[in-house]
Amino acid sequence: MTDQASKLRTLARAELPESTLFHSRVMAITSGKGGVGKTNVVAGLAMSLANIGQRVVVLDADFGLANIDILLGLTPTHTLEHVLRGEKLLEEILLDGPNGIKVIPASSGIQEMTQLDAASELRLVQGLQRVSENQDWLLIDTAAGIHDSVLKLLMAAQEILLVTTPEPTSLVDAYAMVKVVHLRDPKKPIWLLVNNAQSETEAEETIEQLQAATLRFLGRELQVLGLIPADPFLLQAVRQQRGVVDVFPRSPAALAFRSIADLLKKKVPLQKGSFASFWKQLSLEES
Ligand SMILES: Nc1ncnc2c1ncn2[C@@H]1O[C@H](COP(=O)(O)OP(=O)(O)OP(=O)(O)O)[C@@H](O)[C@H]1O
Ligand SMILES: [Mg+2]
Repeated sequence: MTDQASKLRTLARAELPESTLFHSRVMAITSGKGGVGKTNVVAGLAMSLANIGQRVVVLDADFGLANIDILLGLTPTHTLEHVLRGEKLLEEILLDGPNGIKVIPASSGIQEMTQLDAASELRLVQGLQRVSENQDWLLIDTAAGIHDSVLKLLMAAQEILLVTTPEPTSLVDAYAMVKVVHLRDPKKPIWLLVNNAQSETEAEETIEQLQAATLRFLGRELQVLGLIPADPFLLQAVRQQRGVVDVFPRSPAALAFRSIADLLKKKVPLQKGSFASFWKQLSLEES
């Protein structure tokens, strides 16, 4: 790193607030393998949380292949790219999604988070801090896989929601993700959600297998949220670019999202610290 770049980073960090209490619960949704349903889970939970009176903002942090806006039929005119370049404030690009949820759209093909310069990083983190202050939840939809950029978001979030399907490949990759997070922070809460399950038995077997592995090799168990069944209504909703919770509220997937939203509301506490202060800590550890 050049002297000038490192000076800029130090300056940027100094401007991040040391906040005392989370105003919103910050949850990053991740998976080991791609295509397991993260974005659909984020959309379903966001809308179900909104339906039970929670204020929710969704950050699309899949910078490579942004798509939560497409899934919800939204058409952004400005995206995170404009925020990172300093052309817009985060508040100015917020989209109104269904049921009162707010969406921060990414645009496909932005540079990796790891390559963000200090000024862009500061704009993003301060913007998130401001925006999430008026919300109960900040849900972060991440890109699949174990990249530095994804890991930094996961470690800065208060909670991690790990999505897997019952497929062995997805399960093995989910374990790999748990291991990487656990080695960085053994206390980081990880919630497990099995998506696209053909039956309860199949989901239970998936949960048991993953729990057995994490217990044996890492000495910890994950917190289980439950399952979202494989549901043709969800596919139909995707085709209509609408949330399944909205268009088919009595469908198996919508009912499952509802009960998981109830569980999250009941079980996830507000914690000390803030997204910005966590981020700052991570930046300090990196340098
Ligand atoms: N419960 C479900 N029932 C039926 N189909 C589902 C279910 N969950 C997800 N799908 C389908 O799986 C596909 C992948 O979903 P989604 O885009 O949400 O995955 P993702 O994990 O976000 O992918 P990526 O890693 O590319 O971001 C979609 O075509 C979606 O329609
Ligand atoms: Mg996705």
